[in-house]
Amino acid sequence: MKDIVSILRRTGYAVSSLATILSAQPSSAISSASQLVSTPSIEQRVDSLLALMTLEEKLGQLNQRSAQWNTGPGRADAPLEILAALRRGEIGSFLNVIGVDATTDLQRVAMEETRTKIPLIFGLDVIHGYRTIFPIPLGEAATFDPELIEQASRVAAVEATAAGIHWTFAPMVDIARDPRWGRIAESAGEDPHLGGLMAAARVRGFQGRILSDRTSLLACAKHFAAYGGAEGGRDYNTVDISERTLREVYLRPFHAAVEAGAGTLMAAFNEVGGVPSSANPLLLERILRREWGFQGFVVSDWNSVQETVVHGTAADRTSAGIASLTAGVEMDMESKIYVDDLCGAVRDGTLPLSVVDEAVRRVLRVKFLKGLFEDPYRGLTGDQEKSSALTAEHRALARRVAQRSIVLLKNADQILPLRKDLRTVAVIGPLAASQSDPLGCWDARGDSSDVVSLLEGIRKAVGTSTTVRYARGCEIDGTKTGGFAEAVSAARKADAVIMALGEGRWMSGEASNRASLDMPGVQQRLLEQVVAAGKPVVLVLMNGRPLSTPWAAEHVPAIIEGWFGGVEAGHALADVIFGDVNPSGRLPVSIPRTVGQVPIYYNHKNTGRPPTDNHFTSKYLDLESSPLYAFGHGLSYTTFQYGPISLSSDTVGHGETLTVRLAISNTGRRSGEEVVQLYVRDMVGSVTRPVKELKGIRRVALAPQGSAEVEFQVIAKDLAFWNAEMKFVSEPGTFEVMIGGNSVDVQRRTFFLAPP
Ligand code: NOJ
Repeated sequence: MKDIVSILRRTGYAVSSLATILSAQPSSAISSASQLVSTPSIEQRVDSLLALMTLEEKLGQLNQRSAQWNTGPGRADAPLEILAALRRGEIGSFLNVIGVDATTDLQRVAMEETRTKIPLIFGLDVIHGYRTIFPIPLGEAATFDPELIEQASRVAAVEATAAGIHWTFAPMVDIARDPRWGRIAESAGEDPHLGGLMAAARVRGFQGRILSDRTSLLACAKHFAAYGGAEGGRDYNTVDISERTLREVYLRPFHAAVEAGAGTLMAAFNEVGGVPSSANPLLLERILRREWGFQGFVVSDWNSVQETVVHGTAADRTSAGIASLTAGVEMDMESKIYVDDLCGAVRDGTLPLSVVDEAVRRVLRVKFLKGLFEDPYRGLTGDQEKSSALTAEHRALARRVAQRSIVLLKNADQILPLRKDLRTVAVIGPLAASQSDPLGCWDARGDSSDVVSLLEGIRKAVGTSTTVRYARGCEIDGTKTGGFAEAVSAARKADAVIMALGEGRWMSGEASNRASLDMPGVQQRLLEQVVAAGKPVVLVLMNGRPLSTPWAAEHVPAIIEGWFGGVEAGHALADVIFGDVNPSGRLPVSIPRTVGQVPIYYNHKNTGRPPTDNHFTSKYLDLESSPLYAFGHGLSYTTFQYGPISLSSDTVGHGETLTVRLAISNTGRRSGEEVVQLYVRDMVGSVTRPVKELKGIRRVALAPQGSAEVEFQVIAKDLAFWNAEMKFVSEPGTFEVMIGGNSVDVQRRTFFLAPP
């Protein structure tokens, strides 16, 4: 599709002579409790605007188009057609229009050439940074540091809004228990508590203090809902889960995002239990609006309204549009059904006008709250776009996030950190010099020339007397082994070997699922040959999903999970490898021993026959049930010792707070940060409960020999779940509280929740 903006420039503007139909009163009012709380003045303005709009213009507000390129299947209209539609007031929002010039040009058409003069809202997938690319969201989650991720999201918002973007299709808050699913890279992993913390942090970071602020980037929690539960890990596939699992696992991060004030949600592609998410009254009407009181609006995913026809719940476009709009999808991304097919349905009475009006109200309200009516151009110039992008501070934050995202999986004989004065270091592997892969999927305006590769990071970190020898060894994928000999020879001549293996960035993200969790291509063979050279090997994994590396876990002394670490990946990895930074990342997902264990997650149920030596228990004949590396796992260069757990009381009443305390000391020789994790288990419930559930995390920084007291507070609501009657209750009884530095090595105490 040719660039609509260049055509716009060539055709010039015909400025409308119609009078402004809105009085430009300032929108003053946003409560701090919820950024989405409207005011009588906004409601009045919405009503007067609505009263002046034609049906076509109303449906136009619900229509979102992609102007510059397509990010999904569908027919691309010629730019001139899109422009004409915009002038007729048939487009309320664009996605994929980037930059001050492009967005300003289109906004000018909306403000000057349409009858209603309603500003456009521009959306884009700003997922883990705009120009300053941070680690992929799975890596960000591995920081177990929501405050830091809030800061990263703030940086993304500052950069994106300076380029004319108002709205990001993020945070992606889908729980991912299946690493075959490529979009696990965009998620915060498998845990609803961590997922909720990250979701809320991202919403706060994107939106900032007040939506009307020029640097506030409207958030969109997606994909509502249970998109990560796709059967077989195949993107877009069927999801069939119980309502209990839906609510307790998949919906929790969405609820957290809504409570943090997320202005919008995106309906998912998938069906849930036979009902497509994009026309799902249980999700959109009952849960989101009635139970959670959501005041913002819902946008469909790309063409997902039309796809309900393909799912087979709508016979044609019109019935698809009616079902989606009635269920509560207010904006139609790219299927054009609302704008093209719903006028007739309203006119013949099949679709009540009140449904359209309510949807338009929600969209306009957000536009008002966003400050777009008062300030449609956001005072932008191309200068800000340049000067706010990739600043030294933004890069420094990206380095810090990347450092914290790195998980030290294994460090036998403390071979890490490496000394900086080694004579020769061999850097081997297809990802070692890559500047594009660390960007990961969805890199907005990321530029590979900004990226510090691992090789560059290592070169900068070592002293001048160290020789760094690089050998690619093989490609990420494919069968060629021609580079093996050079790699093995480099390894032989080195004092230490750093190998960067894993996936290409195209191997995860949307529609990028894999049936295998092994390292692709011939990388495993390269690793085996290099290890056979007999030198100490540090394996750095770069990937968008957990990779099963059982051979490496046994034969390679040091393994680092580096994810796709963003623009500062190479610096951050070198900081950890050479000990300038003590690693403190933790796994937000279980790493399976093999794909055959999938789905595997720490918060599973006990079953009636948990695995034991007895044959008739829940296990595999050919493999143990535990993961290769457990959720919450991550090593440090120092050691931490935990004191005994103390409880403020052995019995806690409803309305009371249980305080859980424990002392922790750094018993090693380096400063370090420990991620203390609190898990809870409900021993007997009216329905089965998980064997453990994360309920709290604390990061504790300790100098050598330093110690601190860590405190968690637990209230009855933290222990609640959906009971046998599908009521959200805290049932009295015995609970186990567990604390540790990962989900396996924990100490336990029990307490009793008294009846109300
Ligand atoms: C489809 C993806 O599922 C969604 O996450 C994204 O926001 C839209 N395309 C727009 O690019």
